[in-house]
Amino acid sequence: MRSFVMPKMAISMPLAVLAVCLLVIINETGYSRSTAAVADMARAQQTRAGLSSLLQYMLDAETSQRGFLLTGDVRYLEPYERVSDEISRTLQALRSNYLDNPSDLDEYSRLTRHIERKMSEIDVTVRLRREGNEDAWKFVVTTDVGQEQMEQVRSQAQKLIESSARRIDVAQEQIARALRLSRVGIALVALAGLLAFYLYLRQSTALALAGEREQSALESERLRLEAEVRERTATLAELATHLQQVRESERGHLARELHDELGALLTAAKLDVARLKSRLGDSPDATQRLQHLTELLNSGIALKRRIIEDLRPSSLSNLGLVPSLEILGREFAQRSGLDIETVLEPVELEENDQLTVYRLVQESLTNIGKYAQATEVGIALKDYSSHVTVEVSDNGKGFDVSRVVAGSHGLAGMRHRVEAAGGRLTITSVIGQGTRISATLPSRTSPRTAADT
Ligand SMILES: Nc1ncnc2c1ncn2[C@@H]1O[C@H](COP(=O)(O)OP(=O)(O)OP(=O)(O)O)[C@@H](O)[C@H]1O
Ligand SMILES: [Mg+2]
Repeated sequence: MRSFVMPKMAISMPLAVLAVCLLVIINETGYSRSTAAVADMARAQQTRAGLSSLLQYMLDAETSQRGFLLTGDVRYLEPYERVSDEISRTLQALRSNYLDNPSDLDEYSRLTRHIERKMSEIDVTVRLRREGNEDAWKFVVTTDVGQEQMEQVRSQAQKLIESSARRIDVAQEQIARALRLSRVGIALVALAGLLAFYLYLRQSTALALAGEREQSALESERLRLEAEVRERTATLAELATHLQQVRESERGHLARELHDELGALLTAAKLDVARLKSRLGDSPDATQRLQHLTELLNSGIALKRRIIEDLRPSSLSNLGLVPSLEILGREFAQRSGLDIETVLEPVELEENDQLTVYRLVQESLTNIGKYAQATEVGIALKDYSSHVTVEVSDNGKGFDVSRVVAGSHGLAGMRHRVEAAGGRLTITSVIGQGTRISATLPSRTSPRTAADT
């Protein structure tokens, strides 16, 4: 999936970058071309205006010349004198506009020459009129030189005006082209941007889908593993329960065998010794030996009883749970020399659950004897209507419940037994203050849950 997504991811980003670069290039090119064209256009317009003014000045000068020649009134010369400076200033200003264009510069030079000639013709006639040289100025006027020169100025200026108009047209065309380029370019770049965005969206969707698929694959794998762990735990718990039951029934069987077979043997042997004793009469040595034998047999019978009791507490079936726990506590107190306080209420429990309580108390007392260094121990059995609680507490050194070493099976076995019986075990221990082990078991009268079966 990832190999399918990667190439698209590789395309969309460069495409977007390319689109942006193109947009910038097109924009910059259009901008610089348009700016140059606008500048060209402004210069051409300025030139055209200058040329028009020039023509106007020439007309003014000519009118002024004619007025003066006809009337001889010097006031008519005033416009001529005013514009002659303007003309040279305008010509000077126009020259800079033609410097970058050699062909127009030639035309401009020609115009300058025509203007100079026309101006000198005006100058000559005015001077002659002023000097009173009537024939001379009239002769100059009648030659039509002035009119021809004016015509040349006009046509030359017209040429240059047309050239400026052409330049304006070119600049306008350039601006239009730049605008067209920008239009097309922007449209193309927008399309490329859209394509890049589309690819990006597709790629994001594909990535999101891949992520979701991966997530759901992980989730289902997790669920599968959890189910497997649950199944295995259940199997192991079942196996452990089975082994415990087998162990208990083996112990029961062994206890019965010891009781029936070994018990019968020892009892028979004791009877035989008693018979022998009555027959042997007064032999002190034999009587002493028989007495010793009787003592040995009695020790054997006591040992057998202890072993049987340890294998399967007969007190449990013979006397019930409360007396059995009392005996257990008393014997422990005798062995360890500790104070034991027992609060035992009669309870209603299944036979197996009674054994569970008995084993729990037995293992707790063994642990107290082994590790607790306690001075006081308490055993409590309480009956509630639906359940029974059993609690063994001590005021010993306590331990860290979360750090029970591997290879210890007492507490784990206790928990397993209690949970297999549908109950709950709680171990509370505070370092330096003691330990409390308590279990809650459903009483015989309460309906059992599925977990109890
Ligand atoms: N009453 C207690 N006071 C202090 N420490 C305790 C007490 N009960 C249990 N422990 C601690 O908890 C550990 C685990 O006890 P557990 O009965 O599970 O195993 P064990 O007694 O070491 O071995 P096993 O019972 O399998 O022969 C013990 O090693 C001990 O350190
Ligand atoms: Mg133990």
